[in-house]
Amino acid sequence: MAGENVEVIAVGSDHAGYRLKGMLAGELSEMGYRVLDMGTGSEESCDYPDFAVKVAEAVREGEADRGVLVCGTGAGMAMVANKVPGVRAAACNERYSAEFTRLHNDVNVLTMGARMIESEEALGILKVFLDTPFEGDREEGARHLGRLEKVSNVERKYSK
Ligand code: RB5
Repeated sequence: MAGENVEVIAVGSDHAGYRLKGMLAGELSEMGYRVLDMGTGSEESCDYPDFAVKVAEAVREGEADRGVLVCGTGAGMAMVANKVPGVRAAACNERYSAEFTRLHNDVNVLTMGARMIESEEALGILKVFLDTPFEGDREEGARHLGRLEKVSNVERKYSK
């Protein structure tokens, strides 16, 4: 939400995103964030759902303010993270998506594809994700709050 204090960021990846995740974690630490690295810990082949769920649960439980997940495309990580109630994840492999999924969708987990973007671009996308406020807290963006309530209604319908 706008004005929210983002201090703790959970990061995770599979083997395809391992290197990029490490680079981004280092940059986040340099920027002053507290980073929770939920793995994976090497380039050995592993399964992206195992790491997506850890990061998504950390965000849901409030252990982390935001999450960042990296796999080959960003797609698998987003699919899994969005199954955890309260998580709004989006795969953003360019900056426009990162900006507008913050402004309109109040995305709290960013996913990216290490096989699709250069590491410098990934860092740029991450900065947009962190620096862009949700517009729904402002009068002109109130419609976005109503839309997110509808998203939550769908989640509740299938959580029974
Ligand atoms: C791993 O080869 C790849 O499938 C995975 O990183 C990811 O892109 C899935 O969405």
